Amino acid sequence: MKVLLYGGTFDPPHNGHMNNLRAALELVQPDRAIVMPAGIPPHKAASATPGAVRLAMCRCFTALSPAVEVSDWEIRQGGRSYTVHTLEMLRARFPDAALYLSVGSDMLLTFQQWCRWQDILDMATLVVESRRPGDDGALTAAARTLEQYGGRVLFARAESYPCASSDLRTGKIPRADWGRYLPAAVLQVIESNGLYREGRPRSQGRNYTMTCEEAKELVKPRLSHKRWTHTKNVKKMAVQLAERWGENPEKAALAALLHDSAKEMPREALLQIFADNAIIAENAPARPAAIWHGIAAAILAETRWGVTDPEILSAIRCHTTGKPGMSLLDKILYLADMTSDERDWPGVEELRRLEMEDLDKALLVALKQSIDFVKEKGGALDPESVAAYEYQKAQLGC
Ligand SMILES: [Fe+2]
Ligand SMILES: [Fe+2]
Repeated sequence: MKVLLYGGTFDPPHNGHMNNLRAALELVQPDRAIVMPAGIPPHKAASATPGAVRLAMCRCFTALSPAVEVSDWEIRQGGRSYTVHTLEMLRARFPDAALYLSVGSDMLLTFQQWCRWQDILDMATLVVESRRPGDDGALTAAARTLEQYGGRVLFARAESYPCASSDLRTGKIPRADWGRYLPAAVLQVIESNGLYREGRPRSQGRNYTMTCEEAKELVKPRLSHKRWTHTKNVKKMAVQLAERWGENPEKAALAALLHDSAKEMPREALLQIFADNAIIAENAPARPAAIWHGIAAAILAETRWGVTDPEILSAIRCHTTGKPGMSLLDKILYLADMTSDERDWPGVEELRRLEMEDLDKALLVALKQSIDFVKEKGGALDPESVAAYEYQKAQLGC
């Protein structure tokens, strides 16, 4: 079995990407071709277009072959995307398959700067596309160098294409001409979501998130008075922390309002949500029941309420456990949940002081406190909490 990985930012995908994948498919003839839009690529600033919208645009690739599937795996991981991690995931998913990695020609030239590039060479054959006239010599030399490290490099015959995604985003290619550069399906997503229009903050577009008023209307009826009071207090604290540490306060408020939306749902209803959304839920049913509501709340926000901002979804999802490599918003929600006004556990005052002074030290204290609390009560400890704590400890050199 052969599996081809075709990754990129795809903001937006254009006919050049289509040509490259078509060429790689023809050369490799894979049984599965996985198109993988990145969360945040390591070499670029965060894409301003939400992951779910880039995912929707990437459906254009499925027209090339029935072997093509679009994966949201990197987007769901949150944070920066590294190809080596994605290949490790594919190797676990397809243990007997030969893996192929599609690589643009300019990427081949800088391949030795990639995270754990030698591990990538061990795992996958590189498939290089998009040869520009005149760059053959440099590409061949780069391929020979990688072969000395055990790499396997194939060249696919893709026509070079006079377009970069940034030319479309920035208006260098006028909007009136986009039909020549973009698959019709992509144009349709761009139009219906109002993407790449000057002066409009895309990541705050109503299509991808909701207002705090809307979130209140959705969440308040689902919660008891006590839980709703807690939610409002978490929102207040999350906004304070966002303002202190430079996070977007609106995003913090929305994540806080949604974080416990599934807290009072019966166990069966939570399990049903996981069964209906098995891919996004991952192994949730196997984890301790006390942490289910965070995962279920993130799934509800994404699949029923149209919240597509991956940072908000991640913060909701890990608010009970933390996770290794938490984003700023993850940290803010985790801490706000532990230090909201009505909390009165011993030590909360000290943590309230510390979180305004040193967010990372406060997170370490909070993760330790949660683990100790679960142990004290004799509850089941989620491995993610322990991993989050160990990660944070290593980050701080403790
Ligand atoms: Fe919670
Ligand atoms: Fe909470």
